[in-house]
Amino acid sequence: MIKVNKISEKVYQLRIIDTEEKQFHGTLFPVIDGVSYASYLILDEEVTLVDTFEIKYHEQMMQEINTLLAGRTIDHVIINHVEPDHSQSFQLVMDAFPQAKPYCSKGAVKEMQQNFFFDVEYTAVGYGDEIKTGAYTLKFLETPLVHWPDNMWTYLAEEEILFSNDAFGQLITDDVYSDKELGKEKLLKYAREYYTNIVFPNNAAVLRLFNKFKDINWPVKLVAPGHGIMLEEYFEDMCQLYTDLANETKEEKAIIVFETIWGNTMAEALAIKEDFKAKGIETKLYQLSNSRISEVIDEVATAKYIVIGTGNQNNCMFPIVADFIERLKALKAMKAKVLIFGAYGWSPAPFMEVAKRLRDAKYDVYPKPVTINFKLTDDKKIGITQEVENFMNYDHEE
Ligand code: FEO
Repeated sequence: MIKVNKISEKVYQLRIIDTEEKQFHGTLFPVIDGVSYASYLILDEEVTLVDTFEIKYHEQMMQEINTLLAGRTIDHVIINHVEPDHSQSFQLVMDAFPQAKPYCSKGAVKEMQQNFFFDVEYTAVGYGDEIKTGAYTLKFLETPLVHWPDNMWTYLAEEEILFSNDAFGQLITDDVYSDKELGKEKLLKYAREYYTNIVFPNNAAVLRLFNKFKDINWPVKLVAPGHGIMLEEYFEDMCQLYTDLANETKEEKAIIVFETIWGNTMAEALAIKEDFKAKGIETKLYQLSNSRISEVIDEVATAKYIVIGTGNQNNCMFPIVADFIERLKALKAMKAKVLIFGAYGWSPAPFMEVAKRLRDAKYDVYPKPVTINFKLTDDKKIGITQEVENFMNYDHEE
């Protein structure tokens, strides 16, 4: 469904709430409730569209835009981000309003041409540039790597609205106007999962952006992101969340992620869980084949201890574990401490391969995988408890 929210006398949000969608960004990010995208229309003396949309939502969006335009035309199209969820229908919008002037960051010009093969005269904008649309002034700030190198924010100075595109997004599909109605807890929970799955590998860029934004000191009354709901009440809390995540502030918790065929690696996972619990460490267990991977990524991104278990399939780790290792490499949560474990029959070869791949990716991996041969027994349990103890006491700085 599409929801049109009136933000002020001249500003509208056009929000897609798609509760049928099970994935966000291809198959990278399985979602719980669906997805939500937003574009914004500013009906000043000249009309501005902030961000376009995915082709599949184009007709719905254009219908609402045309209703709001009531015969007027679009004069300016802002492309805050080249990624197709915000710009796939750009060409169709330009076909409908050929006199409109498109604006994007300097880095986005080439990306727009390469991504869509659509060469129009883009005006490159960045911090210090302004567009006057009548009573309103639009300002810009490049936000490289939050999420792609081309990203930028647009700021409507007279209304103090920040169109932040990917930043501060969440995949909340509740039919509410803003965070005021939704509440802080759900907002930050969904924002954290979005951040850890989309933005986390670019933590350094987030910290750089926040420093710059602090210096610029634009007052913000409303944050209008490209995903989810708008922020009126909890922007400061959101900034704190981003700062904590970007600094990789770890929670004192162990996240155990594993796969098993006949239950032996699962039995070991449960034993390890008990060992962490006995030390007062919050512990969560995820069997990969039964878990939503974006939730797992969210948990490991914030965990001090990441514990990874596989069995042996012809001397290789299980394919689903290999997939998880690639995701961990892409996540770059390198301040975590990693323990490898698992059950095997004839060869412990896969455990060393898991350790090698993560060490090569600069993860801090405990040198000795905690393995068991076939079934878990009481004496093997004692050995596991000792190794978990050693792992926690291990000087990871060595
Ligand atoms: Fe919402 Fe980076 O796209």
